[in-house]
Amino acid sequence: MPNRKLEALVTHLVASPRVQSLWHISDRGVPVFVHTIDVTMLCLEKFPEWREKFPSFSLEATTIGSLLHDLSKASTRFSGQISHSALMSTAPDRAVREAMDVLDEAQSSAGFSLESEQIDHIWHIIASHHGRWGKVMPSTPEALLVHQMDYFSATYHRCSPVDANDILPFVRDGLKMVTVAARLGVGTSVVRDRLKEACRAEGVRDSRDLLKVWESRGSVVCGSLERMERVEYIRGLKELALQAPRPILEAIARARQPG
Ligand SMILES: [Fe+2]
Repeated sequence: MPNRKLEALVTHLVASPRVQSLWHISDRGVPVFVHTIDVTMLCLEKFPEWREKFPSFSLEATTIGSLLHDLSKASTRFSGQISHSALMSTAPDRAVREAMDVLDEAQSSAGFSLESEQIDHIWHIIASHHGRWGKVMPSTPEALLVHQMDYFSATYHRCSPVDANDILPFVRDGLKMVTVAARLGVGTSVVRDRLKEACRAEGVRDSRDLLKVWESRGSVVCGSLERMERVEYIRGLKELALQAPRPILEAIARARQPG
């Protein structure tokens, strides 16, 4: 595929209302859109290394496959009939069909079509992205990379980007946990866990004592360094996702540079 066609497709795909609808569903407090951008960026970062191992490694199939891999999460979540995981282990062709509809629209908006082998490859990447937990195992390097980065993102980058310093102003105002959770867009368990972690880190008994520390110092230590770094990383990721497609286009430009 000549340069710029991938960029045009990425731009149309990111703008697609169905891809944008992934902002409205979350896994452990992280919008699926943010996770999607994370997986795509991780794949693009790994691209030079994988191209060295596999000289014909496809930038196009990897980028488009990663952008569309979780598209069916919106329909499965809104319909409530079957989970995305169940769909991937029983009927991945449904996930593929939904993704292909969006890809078809993007191709017609961009004014060109991918070759049929590339489409087949994207099919395979989407169908196999759950690896051994799905019905189809990845059988190409590109599908394996998307599966590995999806697993990595789901394991290490899925954590609500909320900490005790976000919660304590509401505690001061006397809001109930359930209201605080709704205001921050997380579950009540996240609010409770974050307060507990901060109490431990500050060496205080409960959130009333934590509030006193926050009021005197203006902030509290929110937990382990690892937790704080992870929350910071996910905040950065969310910012990056808000700027899409720009960060993806920049990562594609970096990936295109000869190694
Ligand atoms: Fe995913």
